[in-house]
Amino acid sequence: MVILDGKKVSNDIKNEITVQVNKMKDKGEKVPHLAAVIVGNDGASLTYVGSKVRACERVGFESTMVRMSNTTSEIELLDKIKELNQNDDIDGFIIQLPLPPQINTQKVLMAVDPSKDVDGFHPENFGKMALDMSTFIPATPFGILELLDRYGVETKGKHTVVIGRSHIVGRPMSILMGRKGFPGNSTVTLTHSHTKNITQITSQADIIISALGVPNFLKAEMVKDDAVIIDVGISRVPDETSPKGYIITGDVDFKNVSKKASYITPVPGGVGPMTIAMLLKNTLLAREQRM
Ligand code: GUN
Repeated sequence: MVILDGKKVSNDIKNEITVQVNKMKDKGEKVPHLAAVIVGNDGASLTYVGSKVRACERVGFESTMVRMSNTTSEIELLDKIKELNQNDDIDGFIIQLPLPPQINTQKVLMAVDPSKDVDGFHPENFGKMALDMSTFIPATPFGILELLDRYGVETKGKHTVVIGRSHIVGRPMSILMGRKGFPGNSTVTLTHSHTKNITQITSQADIIISALGVPNFLKAEMVKDDAVIIDVGISRVPDETSPKGYIITGDVDFKNVSKKASYITPVPGGVGPMTIAMLLKNTLLAREQRM
């Protein structure tokens, strides 16, 4: 069994990006600038955005965190997006999700200039992705592809089962794994809350990508020998023995599933760090496209 070490690979990618940024600096060029908008005080979202900003500093990008209150109206957020679209110094920006209930997420994501949409959430970019056109691929699916690629995990002709159909992970992942090319060329089954007898489906999978958000959902009995297991879950589970009062737990019962798997991502240290590295990669791409 091989651990797909997202922490190590994401560090490699950050080092590669740092080299690129240093070259830009040497040539006197502007370095990439990422902005992240966060609305409200959700603890997990603040942690993620903090990590994104720190990652920018590490590779030599400029970064701006825009904090807006939990009572922000849709109009106020749309005005902020307009400002970021027009600000020539910003190469790419993200709106951290989820947004408070008074704000229509779809409307907000459609207001982002597609050329600055480094999350790849705008319908234009999502459509391009589905049509095999060059575009920003959402960071988490992009990170999973990169991890499979760097470890040389075969995907061609394999049966990939994706659990969860979120717009951020499950849906794009199902499209990408079925695309022509590597990683891709898989036969894909997308499962969700209405899927009947999920164990029958997962136990036939060569590759399982779980993005459900239910701690320890995927048990050893649901997995065949030598399956490739990608765990996208990051749930906070209360734990009094931990200093933070919680531990981060994936969708996969790692202890038991890892005994059967050929490759498996840990949580933490698997897909999570890859997401941030690929957001940086998209931001670098956005800068290059604006030159
Ligand atoms: N919330 C959970 N994952 C993501 C992500 O990749 N991007 C944004 N903007 N929000 C998220």
